[in-house]
Amino acid sequence: MRKIYIFDTTLRDGEQSPGVNLNTKEKVEIALQLEKLGVDRIEAGFPAASPGDLAAVNAVASAVKNATIIGLSRSREQDIDAVREALKGAQDPSIHVFLATSPIHRKHKLRMEKEQVLETAERAILYAKKYFSKIEFSLEDAGRTELDFICQMTDMAIRAGASVVNLPDTVGYMNPIEYGNIFKTVKENVPNIEKIQLSAHCHDDLGMATANALAAILNGADQIEGTINGIGERAGNTALEEIALALETRSDYFGAKTGLNLKEIAKTSRLVSKLTGMVIPGNKAIVGANAFAHESGIHQDGMLKEKTTYEIISPDTIGLHDSKLVLGKHSGRHAFREKLIDLGYELDEEAVNVAFAKFKDLADRKKHVTDEDIRAFLEEKLIDTPEVYTLEAIQVSYGNQSTPSASVRIRTTEGETREEVAIGNGSVDAIYNAIDKVTAEAVELEDYSIKSVSQGKDAQGEVHVVLKQDDTSAHGRGLSTDILEASARAYIDALNRLIEKRKSPGRRDKMSLI
Ligand code: KIV
Ligand code: ZN
Repeated sequence: MRKIYIFDTTLRDGEQSPGVNLNTKEKVEIALQLEKLGVDRIEAGFPAASPGDLAAVNAVASAVKNATIIGLSRSREQDIDAVREALKGAQDPSIHVFLATSPIHRKHKLRMEKEQVLETAERAILYAKKYFSKIEFSLEDAGRTELDFICQMTDMAIRAGASVVNLPDTVGYMNPIEYGNIFKTVKENVPNIEKIQLSAHCHDDLGMATANALAAILNGADQIEGTINGIGERAGNTALEEIALALETRSDYFGAKTGLNLKEIAKTSRLVSKLTGMVIPGNKAIVGANAFAHESGIHQDGMLKEKTTYEIISPDTIGLHDSKLVLGKHSGRHAFREKLIDLGYELDEEAVNVAFAKFKDLADRKKHVTDEDIRAFLEEKLIDTPEVYTLEAIQVSYGNQSTPSASVRIRTTEGETREEVAIGNGSVDAIYNAIDKVTAEAVELEDYSIKSVSQGKDAQGEVHVVLKQDDTSAHGRGLSTDILEASARAYIDALNRLIEKRKSPGRRDKMSLI
């Protein structure tokens, strides 16, 4: 079996998704989970973008021991220096240098002729070579670049000292036949191509990112770049879980495998979704809530007779399993502890106590506490954002013949309690107006979404919001059996994160890759 290397860019290209802004702690949390998942390479960010980005890459580099940590760099010395600085503590550092190569980018963005592109990239690789033994060079927009120029650039990169050459379909324009052909052509025409690894990096604008990456593998790519849940710029990147499962399920066809620990996929996917606020569509391949659900009678009948009639992947493969233990109001500490072990959580005594208290509280409001409920409250406060504001009480009055109103009581870090009342065009609007009155923060609600954590009318609701203030936006989440309370909690969580961000001005709000 050929080994396919996995280059995870959830923390860089994934973080370029609109509305996503991870702080340093969140980036480290995701990186540590990616390490457990067994990715080979982690692109931790773009250090030259801001001192805050550099610090975040540095924190990831110090925390992760079992993966290569990579920093992105334009073909400029100051960017390369920023990556050097950021990767000082890394066990296994590497740099990813890129320059656009397509006629459109050469003419309109770079205003360079082919010769200048070749020279600029070569100079950058040679400079990086002084400090890094592992260098990846990317031909940005390779998908729309002339084939002979791709070969020329690849040849130059090999001679200058790159160890990986990446041929991205930056704008998601390719189809699998065309994209595969780029790899085939480079393999067949570039001297010493066996000395380096070829990498594929696809975007999903036409829904072909996974198919294109697989076509690259069939034509000689050694590495796939992508993100968890396929998040990323515009329509996103190749979803790494899809590549891993496609290779696993169809190893007979591809003859290749990743080194991923597949059982960590569900957990990694949930973590990325929670921390980025990017909700996974129910029908998303591999990690969507319905990916293993069988609704039609014919399918259910087939499944009962023999699972393989309609199931090509067992949910257990990605770390999802049906738990036999159903918890409720009368379940004790012992059963709860067993459940935590069953779900794969390793908590210390103190954390078990806190979680058990939360469980008891939930069991009072809900007949059956499902695995999803437990995961949701265990993962609710993964990263403790300093709580400038804490929701103490909420009261809502709604009638379809009257104006909705809400009152909220909020405690501040100074220990002061403030209460306000407001009206709105709906209950959530009234709550948010009342919170605004308490905090006097001028914020804009950019996004609001709600989903149920499990089934049944007593299910917990999980709300995600994105708040914007000037150029900064922050995501917040809230969980409760009452969706109005969950809405208030999500709003306050986002406010607290926004305030935290304001205090760390070194962090840029969005990456500019010009
Ligand atoms: O899509 C792209 O081309 C990129 C490069 C920086 C590799 O993300
Ligand atoms: Zn990209």
